[in-house]
Amino acid sequence: MSKKNPGKKSANKMWGGRFSAATHARMEKFSASVGVDRRLARHDIAGSVAHARMLAAAGVLSADECKRIEDGLREIAAQIERGEFEWSEAHEDVHMNIEAKLTEMIGDAGKKLHTARSRNDQVATDMRLWLREEIDRMCGALGALQRTLVEMAAKEAATILPGFTHMQCAQPVTFGHHLLAWNEMLQRDYERLRECRARANASPLGSAALAGTGFAINREMTAAELGFARVCSNSLDAVSDRDFAVEFCAHAALLMVHLSRMAEELVLWSSDAFAFVDLGDAFCTGSSIMPQKKNPDAAELIRGKCARVCGNLSALLMLMKAQPLAYNRDNQEDKEALFDSADTALACLEVFAEMAAHMKPRRENMRAAAARGHATATDLADYLAAKGVPFRDAHEAVGKAVAFALENNLELAQIKTEDLRRFCPAVEDDVQAALSLEGSVGARDHAGGTAPAQVAKAAKAALQLLDARKEAGE
Ligand code: ARG
Repeated sequence: MSKKNPGKKSANKMWGGRFSAATHARMEKFSASVGVDRRLARHDIAGSVAHARMLAAAGVLSADECKRIEDGLREIAAQIERGEFEWSEAHEDVHMNIEAKLTEMIGDAGKKLHTARSRNDQVATDMRLWLREEIDRMCGALGALQRTLVEMAAKEAATILPGFTHMQCAQPVTFGHHLLAWNEMLQRDYERLRECRARANASPLGSAALAGTGFAINREMTAAELGFARVCSNSLDAVSDRDFAVEFCAHAALLMVHLSRMAEELVLWSSDAFAFVDLGDAFCTGSSIMPQKKNPDAAELIRGKCARVCGNLSALLMLMKAQPLAYNRDNQEDKEALFDSADTALACLEVFAEMAAHMKPRRENMRAAAARGHATATDLADYLAAKGVPFRDAHEAVGKAVAFALENNLELAQIKTEDLRRFCPAVEDDVQAALSLEGSVGARDHAGGTAPAQVAKAAKAALQLLDARKEAGE
């Protein structure tokens, strides 16, 4: 209270009791986070309702006070939903905006809500509630993309595609096998997100500012009400820990790295030089100067947005670096990076799924490219090795055959059997089957191999996994 103005909180803040001067206008603007954290409003209200009910059960609030608080909060939630709530930077953040409004609406009971609580445990709770939902949404989008890829893989189980190493044609694979490789990456991303969700699913509520509270609170009750699996074990850690945000941003970054790799392949494959896929007009754009252009912008944007999401991870790691226990205001800076990673990754997943659904494989071009580049050279070496030729000798002999093919402007598979025999005396009449694209992929008939039968089996298993996830609501 100001000496000159006893009875009036001159800072006009919820925490203004010990202040005599008002907050500088520049400071008010600088410290306000409501523009960003208002996004947590729904979770903030859920946390407050759970807290009020627990305080009533503990005898700290009367049943009537609790009811007034709950009714007031519900009304505020409805106002926010309708876009009628007036947010004010003077009230700094989402928590104080809502509390101020509640007090304005219901009077003293509103002022009692913050008993046995701090914004420190409040914001940590809100963020975990928010993240849980966000992870569920992302897992749903991941599942949709995976399903598109896996269903396509089942259809393309026998479609020949050149496989590359060092971006050089290496061995034939099937297009379905390639799509299932993408699915594997995404499946691990999904698993990581679920693990992150499980670890984050603990309630900080009751930790108060940092040390807990002297009130006879029931942390299990608020945790159960909010659907948390357990309470956080240490109050200092609970208010300061942002591992869950860092972990999520790390998983989102790796997911985006995966999407960027997939997007890059689509950029290459849709180019005239490859012409392996047609991306469809809906996810491409034209050039304002070159009338012939159809650019794979969606794929390029996904590739590009990966940078932001990786940057967000770096920002959060630096935010936490060297922060002493317990809560520090630095932590307010966590939200923009976290929200942006979630929004960006989700948008990319949704666009990728749609783009993939519109994509048409150009099978004849894939096959023709696989037929170039002597892609079955390893098969010939394996063929000779199976006939008892030591693999290193077989490798050498086939290398000579490739050189012969290059000199004569032929593909390895086009060399006549009697010509092959000059380099590889062990060659018999069955060699042409081994040299064929179908023979090559068909021979790799083991778990994880590219044989069409294996790909069909793997696609089926992947689909079953996705169905089980859907059934479990994950
Ligand atoms: N807006 C703050 C944040 O996001 C809420 C917690 C503030 N706590 C405090 N003691 N100033 O971190």
